Amino acid sequence: MFLTLLLAGVILAITFVLYWYMSVPKNLPPGPKGLPILGSAIDTWDVPTQYMLLQKWAKKYGPFFKVYIANKLVLILGDYKTIQEALVKQGDVFAGRPNIVKLVPKEYHDLGLFLSEGDLWKEQRRFAITTLREFGLGRTSMEPHIQEEVQHLVTEMTKHAKGPAFNLHRVINNAVANVICQLVFGRRFEYDDASFGKQLQVLTKRASESNISFLSPLLLCGWIAKLLSILPQGKRLLSEGAQFVDYMDQQVKITAKTYDSNSPPTNYVHAFVKAAKQEQGKNFNDAQLVSTVIDLFAAGTETASSAIRWAVLYLARHPDLQERIYQELKAGMSDDANNNKLPSYSDRAQFPLTEATIMETQRIASLSPLSVMHKTLAPTKLMGYDIPEGTLAIPLLWNVLSDPDTFPHPEKFDPHRFLDEEGKVKRNPNLIPFSSGKRVCIGEGLANMELFIFFAGLFSRFRFFYPPNEPIPTLAAGVGFVRAPTPYNICVELRD
Ligand code: HEM
Repeated sequence: MFLTLLLAGVILAITFVLYWYMSVPKNLPPGPKGLPILGSAIDTWDVPTQYMLLQKWAKKYGPFFKVYIANKLVLILGDYKTIQEALVKQGDVFAGRPNIVKLVPKEYHDLGLFLSEGDLWKEQRRFAITTLREFGLGRTSMEPHIQEEVQHLVTEMTKHAKGPAFNLHRVINNAVANVICQLVFGRRFEYDDASFGKQLQVLTKRASESNISFLSPLLLCGWIAKLLSILPQGKRLLSEGAQFVDYMDQQVKITAKTYDSNSPPTNYVHAFVKAAKQEQGKNFNDAQLVSTVIDLFAAGTETASSAIRWAVLYLARHPDLQERIYQELKAGMSDDANNNKLPSYSDRAQFPLTEATIMETQRIASLSPLSVMHKTLAPTKLMGYDIPEGTLAIPLLWNVLSDPDTFPHPEKFDPHRFLDEEGKVKRNPNLIPFSSGKRVCIGEGLANMELFIFFAGLFSRFRFFYPPNEPIPTLAAGVGFVRAPTPYNICVELRD
């Protein structure tokens, strides 16, 4: 009896080891070994240094390597070439998203644009791109709304001119969020609207202060998240998420009520309601609309707001450059009837130094250092390795944007790297802050227009400088999903 049991145990153990051995993919790229069970979860735990650690590993193992976060295999696509091979040449295979822990109520899981997949994602992404084209850059352009928002921002900031140094995070966030509000709801929120301000704070905490990234075990491993959800911090995250969804749900309902089928839609919610009434597809339902609105806010607020805050931080450090940009803007911008200078995106070719500085800000800021995580939808071969279906992949944009071969002295803030000998803008294909391929950022066009108008509007009206007699603000970043500047105070002076 004992021998039979022993034999059965040995056979079971051999079967298990064989099964495990055969199921571990063989021909994978190199990477750190990590610990049993945990993989590299502990090494990568600290999000603010995570992207730098991945960069160090890219130097050691090569730009294409693997890490294990607990039992999750994650490929790191660490240079331009690998990203193009995966996300562009094999766009359909790499178009999946990870099944991560969601921080919103269950009925909204796997909807929207960011984390959806398959037919739902294809249909809704197509609709979003068409609608953004229509309202963002097309027939009813967002440009006048963005210009109007800049006027509000200038008025608000003028209150601080000659005053003590202040932190511009809140107003910039509100102004940038208002661009999304105009797009989705067709209206804006005042800077002193307390309940809207509260939602923006939730977004900021999530995006850049949460110490969570796509490589966090908390998001990737459901069992860790379950443990944390009973702790006060986890409970708070979930309840803030639910409140944010409620708020957006209310705003969507208010906007949807004003839809008039006799007039062409002028905002995203109306366009969506119209599509739902025309039964364009089964996914045009309330939960999908609310999820999309949340995704547009999440994707388009802290990113663009951080870009502007980085620009102010760097240009206060480079007063000569700031002065030359001001001169360029002053010479080229025309006044409206109220003597306000209004930057227009279509005139940007006249402002090469301004454009190059915006490009350099996007490069050095590396706003989404790990982009958004992808997943393979079929087994494939990449750079000679065999990649199983369901493998996760991170485009390490940070490493691409700070590659010394394409951007010499990457740590140096130098807009001239984007100018040719004649002083015209010189594009560099490696500047991919919006990623590449089938899931490339759908807001790229809108963000570029918005950044130009905000940047030109602010630097043509104000001089920004660090508070005298105080330590110079750090260039170190706070990082979650977005690489945002550490909060800082700045002085503003109105130009003549
Ligand atoms: C400077 C500002 C911005 C940066 C740096 C940025 C960057 C990115 C990046 C890196 C991705 C991931 C692409 C990938 O998966 O490979 C992304 C996705 C996305 N972005 Fe942006 N973004 C910005 C602004 C915006 C704005 C203004 C909007 C909305 C109007 C937006 C909407 C989206 C959406 C919906 C996705 C998900 C696309 C999909 O999964 O199919 N982004 N963005």
